[in-house]
Amino acid sequence: MSSDSTLLERRFRVMGRNAPLFYDRPVHLVRGKGVWVEDADGRTYLDVYNNVPNVGHCHPHVVEAIARQAATLNLHTRYLHETVVRYAERLTATFDGSLNAATFTCSGTESNELALRMARYRTGGKGIIVSDFSYHGNSETLASVTTCFPVPEPFPAFARKVAIPDPFRDRQGRSDEELGDYFAAKVREAVRSLQADGIPIAALLIDPLFANEGLPELVPNYVAKAVGIVREAGGLFICDEVQAGFGRTGDAMWGHQLANVVPDIVSLGKPMGNGHPIGGVIAASDLIDSFGLAATYFNTFGGNPVSAAAATAVLDVIEQESLLENGRRVGAYVRAGLERLMAQHAIIGNVRGHGLFFGLELVEDDAARTPATAKTKRLVNMMRDRGILLSKIGRYDNILKMRPPMVFTEENADLLLSALDDALNAL
Ligand SMILES: Cc1ncc(COP(=O)(O)O)c(C=O)c1O
Repeated sequence: MSSDSTLLERRFRVMGRNAPLFYDRPVHLVRGKGVWVEDADGRTYLDVYNNVPNVGHCHPHVVEAIARQAATLNLHTRYLHETVVRYAERLTATFDGSLNAATFTCSGTESNELALRMARYRTGGKGIIVSDFSYHGNSETLASVTTCFPVPEPFPAFARKVAIPDPFRDRQGRSDEELGDYFAAKVREAVRSLQADGIPIAALLIDPLFANEGLPELVPNYVAKAVGIVREAGGLFICDEVQAGFGRTGDAMWGHQLANVVPDIVSLGKPMGNGHPIGGVIAASDLIDSFGLAATYFNTFGGNPVSAAAATAVLDVIEQESLLENGRRVGAYVRAGLERLMAQHAIIGNVRGHGLFFGLELVEDDAARTPATAKTKRLVNMMRDRGILLSKIGRYDNILKMRPPMVFTEENADLLLSALDDALNAL
């Protein structure tokens, strides 16, 4: 096997120098199990970052389901297949009754792109509102509305970006209600601005946890208010559950259930197949039917029997291993530990998150809340050296992002917390 530096050079040559890689010293992983991954030198790391292996790396039930179906039949969805239909029935049953039909895709990007097409078809509008500092995918349309990193595509005339509330930075004496109203008014301004340009609104597209934005503490009623404004203007609510879904919050299967709003369209991806590429769009059957008639949407690999078998196995494990309950219990344990660390380390300005999804905002000083961007980057690398994988998010790149597989235990949490304490002391 080639050394890591040789492999990196080969990768640069053949995949380019700018294909994203985590860490100053990239990690060369060769296998995983549960919450653990192992590198080429046999060193193990606790995975506190990845939600794609949602039910744990290489979960035997998922691996077995994929292998069994791959050894039996794999084709696209233009033939009847029991596993595919049964999965669609089981998945849609986890949503509000109005969201009763599914179309399968291969990624979060494809799901959001399809959701936008459906919203534009249903409303006849073209306008899109996204949150400032967001990401929903890498197609041309979704890249053009990306606001959390630079893209070559110009931000389009048919879109508007709105700032979303971050209580840690935006509160300024406002109550939750006032904060929600203040930021919902920005959605109203965006709708009016589109209307003034003769662009009817098709959809508000947001992640209910605002994960890429920095996972701010949720302001009750903000999402409901924003959605109400968009619906009043004739637009739909597309809820991007690519990060928030499949029990991540511990409290509910879907992120939007925390906001008490039923979306018109939901887009799914990442954790759906535990790493096997499957995504989906969930909507009312009359929308799926009428769009299907108009558009003949067909996706060769989307929802093939192997993907459906993998995704079914993921639902089995979530139920059989009570992973929502685990997310709630272990999530509360981690959160309490992070709050203890906040009391000991002045650099921690804020702890936020739900279930097994945490953000830790690092600041240089408590009063001005100057983002500790460079130290956050160092901390991520120091944690890697201590055998813990996590990352960073947010406008100032100063929020530690922790989102482990849902099988994370209290024992794993203790390891994370003591490594974090140690790294913060060394910082
Ligand atoms: C919120 C959100 N939506 C959509 C996507 C795109 O998903 P994919 O990379 O599967 O196309 C991502 C990817 O990071 C995401 O974070």
